[in-house]
Amino acid sequence: MTEPLRLGIAGLGTVGVGVVKIVRQKAALLEARGGRPIRISAVCARSRVKDRGVSLDGYDWEDDPVALAQRDDVDVFVELMGGSDGPAKAATEAALRAGKDVVSANKALLAHHGQALAEAAEASNVVLRFEAAVAGGIPVVKALTESLAGNDINRIMGVMNGTCNYILTRMESAGLSYEEAFAEADGLGYLEADPELDVGGIDAGHKLSLLASIAFGTQVAFDAVELEGIGRVSIEDIRQAAGMGYKVKLLGVCRMTGRGLEQRMSPCLVPASSPLGQLDGGTNMLVIEGDQVGQIVMRGAGAGEGPTASAVMGDIIDIARGTRVTTFGQPSHSLVQATPARAGAAAPYYLRLTLLDKPGALAKVAAVLGEAGVSIDRMRQRSHDKETAPVLIVTHKTTRAALDTALAAMDGTGVVRDEPVALRIEKV
Ligand code: NAP
Ligand code: HSE
Repeated sequence: MTEPLRLGIAGLGTVGVGVVKIVRQKAALLEARGGRPIRISAVCARSRVKDRGVSLDGYDWEDDPVALAQRDDVDVFVELMGGSDGPAKAATEAALRAGKDVVSANKALLAHHGQALAEAAEASNVVLRFEAAVAGGIPVVKALTESLAGNDINRIMGVMNGTCNYILTRMESAGLSYEEAFAEADGLGYLEADPELDVGGIDAGHKLSLLASIAFGTQVAFDAVELEGIGRVSIEDIRQAAGMGYKVKLLGVCRMTGRGLEQRMSPCLVPASSPLGQLDGGTNMLVIEGDQVGQIVMRGAGAGEGPTASAVMGDIIDIARGTRVTTFGQPSHSLVQATPARAGAAAPYYLRLTLLDKPGALAKVAAVLGEAGVSIDRMRQRSHDKETAPVLIVTHKTTRAALDTALAAMDGTGVVRDEPVALRIEKV
């Protein structure tokens, strides 16, 4: 009989339990597709006694993920604990050093240490795969590293954090405030243990940086992602956007330009009728533009037990089949360090300012915009309280640099209260 592929699974939470279920319930299918049986040798989590809703009979238990990673009866170390450092990093490094293939769902770990881990994998002649780390069940890592390898990638765009999309969708469809929609997402268990990872755009930024590395042959550069979360998007912004035919989305965009690598993750206005505009709830969407293939749109569940475990199993079956792909689609020594570039392409922007309601206030704001070379397309003053008036402005196309110059000068006008909200209107 063909030798089984033996797994050591570290982490028995949402994703880990999903993987155990698939291995237990689909043994014949996995063997047929992988060409050999896939078995679990041992598992590891913090609590040995927690009821996880799945039988762990027949598996050895390890308290220490590093020990699990080094076991002789483990061929593939499956890291499903999470965290950019600590046990996840130590165990992944130990597994690679011990000559084990590694499958991980951990975008934080890969975004912070991807280059070093890819080098360690190649030094040990093993593979490190991470399909589940980006957009859950959507096979975008495989698509980019394998199926689209013959393309120059022009641009990748997408909604990569289901929690933020859920919050923004609920604000739009149910008229909830940001705080109410956040509380609802929390109640449904959508938020990461540290919610700032979701709403601060960090989780989505991790994912974008991994895709950019594969797409452009560059070393992962999470620190260079221009990040802005959804915490300052108000119901007023969502309503105004809807009135103009747009939806607000936490949108990631990366592309290689003559000036360097652009990577940005920020709330943007996208046409309501576009595929991205129509993406509701916790779903993810990736739009990939290649020079040969044209535009590809991938849509699906970006999180959850089944979809994420599905992606983990895809990587495991590849290893069972003997498919060996480098971590970021090319040898790690050939990945270049990209120069980070800010978004250079001009775009219209939506601005919301809170102005003191006094004579000349609007004129001062218009002057600041004009001096920075930012031209106003439309402007509206909303109903106001005794002292302030919310003013909504849509600019003509302008660069982010020009807009930032104007925004920096707003404070000096003495009439702008609170930090202005500026949302790019993205052509998608
Ligand atoms: P989770 O439900 O919080 O589960 C984490 C698991 O890791 C738990 O079983 C926990 O043990 C175990 N663990 C934590 N620290 C440990 C340590 N020091 N030693 C041993 N075990 C430890 O997390 P998850 O949602 O399954 O996510 C796992 C990974 O997949 C993360 O990297 C996450 O970003 C990624 N991911 C998740 C999703 C999703 O939809 N959930 C989607 C894509 C990617 P106990 O159970 O005993 O506490
Ligand atoms: N917190 C993430 C999300 C989980 O909401 O998309 C999947 O990575």
